[in-house]
Amino acid sequence: MVTEPLSRPVMLVTGGTGSVGEAIAREAAAQGWAVVIQGRDAAKLAAFATSLQHVTAADFVAEDVTKADAAARIVAEAKARFGRLDAVVDCVSTGPREGRLTGLFKDTTPEHFTAFYDLSAAWFQRLAHAAYPALAERGGTLIGFISDAGKFAAPRQTIIGAARAAEIGFVRNLAVEAARDLIRVHAIAPSYVLESRTAELMGSERMESAAKRAGLDLPTPADIAPMAVFLCGPGAAKITGQIVSVNGGLNA
Ligand SMILES: NC(=O)c1ccc[n+]([C@@H]2O[C@H](COP(=O)([O-])OP(=O)(O)OC[C@H]3O[C@@H](n4cnc5c(N)ncnc54)[C@H](OP(=O)(O)O)[C@@H]3O)[C@@H](O)[C@H]2O)c1
Repeated sequence: MVTEPLSRPVMLVTGGTGSVGEAIAREAAAQGWAVVIQGRDAAKLAAFATSLQHVTAADFVAEDVTKADAAARIVAEAKARFGRLDAVVDCVSTGPREGRLTGLFKDTTPEHFTAFYDLSAAWFQRLAHAAYPALAERGGTLIGFISDAGKFAAPRQTIIGAARAAEIGFVRNLAVEAARDLIRVHAIAPSYVLESRTAELMGSERMESAAKRAGLDLPTPADIAPMAVFLCGPGAAKITGQIVSVNGGLNA
């Protein structure tokens, strides 16, 4: 807990122990941000803390986002650590391992959709509610990670596509409204991400097939992180409501 706000900006990365969240936290710290990293696994957070020992302003929050009032607790803790909050980047994801998320529609159930929706669009809305007052204090940025499935139709993506499209609607409408409080809101949409946990679970065959269609080659988490940090920084001060795909040219 600090009494004086830091002179540098503070970014909260939820899902910060994941492939993309970790890369964003590292990139933000390298660019001079103070970072607060949320994950649900204390051991993972401790290992991350050890690897970030060289960073003078990094802190960690352990919380399962499915618990009641998790968003309020995470945001309150993050703000208390450094006395301010300038950006919230949400990378929480179930990943394809939990539930049948990428199957044919006839093989899914309404429960699959409800569970995924709750940890994506509904969670992001809860996080936005919790973060709004802190972000409004200085004019901050809120970014949700979605998936290209919310923008581009494909087989086996009905559950992910529907939930992510809801998040896109939320982001775009909130962006127009929140601009009056100087809050900027965006979504970043990966498709297939090399060197991510999801890629491991997808298997090499699907990743190789996607790579053949991506003229710029598929991105790694380190290729995605600079976009998130840029959108939170002063160079993007007049940009809001954007849904930015970082997919190596797979979809356009
Ligand atoms: N990687 C891809 O190929 C890909 C493609 C399209 C879209 N995306 C999107 O990009 C974003 C980041 O993906 P990623 O690859 O970094 O995912 P990831 O590696 O699976 O990381 C997900 C993060 O969410 C956390 N999490 C999951 N359930 C949680 C819960 N109940 N409470 C608290 N934390 C929880 C995980 O914690 P643990 O570390 O404890 O599991 C981890 O920090 C996600 O929104 C994802 O849908 C990714």
